[in-house]
Amino acid sequence: MRALTSLTITDAVLEQMASTPDARMKEVMEAAVRHLHAFAREVNLTPAEWIKSIEFMTKVGQTCTPARQEFILLSDTLGLSALVNLMHDTTRTEEATSASLLGPFFRENTPRFEGGAQIANKADGAEVVLYGRVTNAQGAPLPNAQVTVWQTAADGRYDIQNGIEEIDCRGIFRTDADGNYLIRTVRPLGYFIPLDGPVGQMVMAQKRHGMRPAHIHFLISAPGYRELVTALYLAGDAHLEDDVVFGASADLVANVKEGDAACPIKGLPSINFDFSLARESEADKRAGRVGADPAAVTAGNGKQTTPYGAPPPEIAAATANPKKSGIFGGLFRSR
Ligand code: BEZ
Ligand code: FE
Repeated sequence: MRALTSLTITDAVLEQMASTPDARMKEVMEAAVRHLHAFAREVNLTPAEWIKSIEFMTKVGQTCTPARQEFILLSDTLGLSALVNLMHDTTRTEEATSASLLGPFFRENTPRFEGGAQIANKADGAEVVLYGRVTNAQGAPLPNAQVTVWQTAADGRYDIQNGIEEIDCRGIFRTDADGNYLIRTVRPLGYFIPLDGPVGQMVMAQKRHGMRPAHIHFLISAPGYRELVTALYLAGDAHLEDDVVFGASADLVANVKEGDAACPIKGLPSINFDFSLARESEADKRAGRVGADPAAVTAGNGKQTTPYGAPPPEIAAATANPKKSGIFGGLFRSR
């Protein structure tokens, strides 16, 4: 039997995983093992540090509920969500509005509104109009595109932070025959990401401020076009340059204008922004979103279907009879 060393163990793991039939899973897992091992060697990870990291990840998982996705927050604060978005943008087949973070506060469960409706339950004197066009990459309008919008209320909190049953400051609109959208909302505030969990402890231990600049999220789709997950960031916010989750970018900064004569609703400050969508490629159909509805991600939480630690029934049956033919035949060796 060979003796493993801190250098040869990586190849031993890769050899054992070489049987993975799914080519993409094999590629991703092999790279994950190579990089994880290299990381542990680079920092000379001690057993105490390793167990502390596991305790941290355990707390991140335990903090997730249908109303809170601490893993997305972890990915966001490590810049991983932004990196995945940036890489995703480079695969566009046409120039279009760039993507930004979906964040942990998107929900599928969102009310539909007619153009020009107010999405905030309490407007409280801070009303703002959002208007513009949704076009294709060549500038042709996209009628009947779906425009989903969500943001903080005027107090700087998302509805879901007050409870999963509360719905406020989010809505689904459609563009008109000329590709125009028109939304009434309130001016969002910059805010602290949720800092009361393990990710917050990490951010605070790193002496980061933990703030996002004021922004409004958009998810825009039209048949045949690549879904656009993006956000508009309000010009003048002090944290445009050092967003704690790295979502803000210069091309997505929007001005709030007073007295804009072109605004379809008069007498209110407004943001005018045109979005363009790239045509959908085959790869786009498989790419998925960065982030998700926290309620959907954690659906089934606490509903364990097999006893703790038990293998799935088909694996248990195959190990009971290792010589049996069929898909598990030959996979299991006797000791
Ligand atoms: C947000 O956009 O609301 C958000 C994004 C990432 C982490 C936390 C919040
Ligand atoms: Fe947000």
